[in-house]
Amino acid sequence: MARWLVMISPVGIAAAALAGGVQPGHLERGKAIYEQRCVVCHGPEGRGDGVQAPFLSPRPASLISAATSAKTDQELLRVIANGKPRTAMPAWKDILSEEEQRDVLRYIRSLIRFSQPMLTPPPPAGSQ
Ligand code: HEC
Repeated sequence: MARWLVMISPVGIAAAALAGGVQPGHLERGKAIYEQRCVVCHGPEGRGDGVQAPFLSPRPASLISAATSAKTDQELLRVIANGKPRTAMPAWKDILSEEEQRDVLRYIRSLIRFSQPMLTPPPPAGSQ
C-alpha cells in the first residue's frame, strides 16, 4: 500500500517523469500553466469537466481520451496555438511562448501516462 501512495505523490510522479526522460522543470511549468489557464474548462485531471464545462457547447475535450491521446504532438500543439474553430478553445499563441505551449502539452501527456496504471491495483503479494 505504502508503495502505491508513493507512486501517486508528486515525488513519485517527478521520479517517474525523470525515468521517462521528461525534465521535471518543464513538467512543473506545464502544470502551473495548466492550472492557471486550462483547468477551468478541461478539469483538474484533464477529463473535460472543469467548472466552465457545463456552460460550453461543444464541451471541452477530455484530454486523456483515446482520441486525444492518439493525436501527435504537432496536431495538439496546432490546436493549442490556434484554438479550435467553432468551439470555446482559445488560441494561446499570443499568450504563451512556444516553450510554454510545449510544457503544457507535456503536462497533458503526463496526465494520461500516470492516471492509467492507477486503475488496476497490483495483485496482492504472494498470490499465484
Ligand atoms: C474556455 C474553455 C477552454 C479553455 C480555457 C481551454 N480549452 Fe482546450 N478546448 C476547449 C474546447 C471546447 C475544445 C474543443 C472540444 C474538443 O476538441 O473536443 C478544446 C480542445 C482542446 C484540445 C484539442 C483536443 C483534441 O483532441 O483535439 C487541446 C489539446 C486543448 N484544448 C488544450 C488546452 C490547453 C493546453 C489549454 C490551456 C492553455 C486549454 N485547452 C484551455 C475549451 C477550452
